[in-house]
Amino acid sequence: MDNEIKQIINRNGITSRDKLIPVLQEVQEYFGFLPKQAIAEVAKKMEIPVAKIHGIITFYNQFSYEPKGEYHIRICRGTSCHMNQSGILLESLENKLGIRAGQTTRDHNFSLEIVPCLGACGQGPVLAVNDEYYTEVNQKALETIIDMYQKMT
Ligand code: FES
Repeated sequence: MDNEIKQIINRNGITSRDKLIPVLQEVQEYFGFLPKQAIAEVAKKMEIPVAKIHGIITFYNQFSYEPKGEYHIRICRGTSCHMNQSGILLESLENKLGIRAGQTTRDHNFSLEIVPCLGACGQGPVLAVNDEYYTEVNQKALETIIDMYQKMT
């Protein structure tokens, strides 16, 4: 792990703290999430306090401490989708899967992420499961979508 982190930091410029976010993005891309050991190595090599890095990770929804599930659900909470009740869908998803946004189910089948836009604002609320997009999702459609993926696990 040490070597991969070193390469990522070197690519981004080891002396520049403003490169922390791109470094974390690359680390997450490499591992699929941000392992604690990798965070500790980034902190050491970039000479940034671990607490500060955790602050950044928790501030940005794009970062995750947990590996993504086999089915990664992204739900849009942008303005347009919000106006179309995406908050209620998010609540239903969290209840149905037994996790909060940013978490992965224990069996690693599902993970849930809130995103600011999925690029189909006129057809909200929108959610995506891996690369499959679902528009104008209502409660009934949500049940059908999740049941379908649960059957595939
Ligand atoms: S605001 Fe939801 S897709 Fe853009």
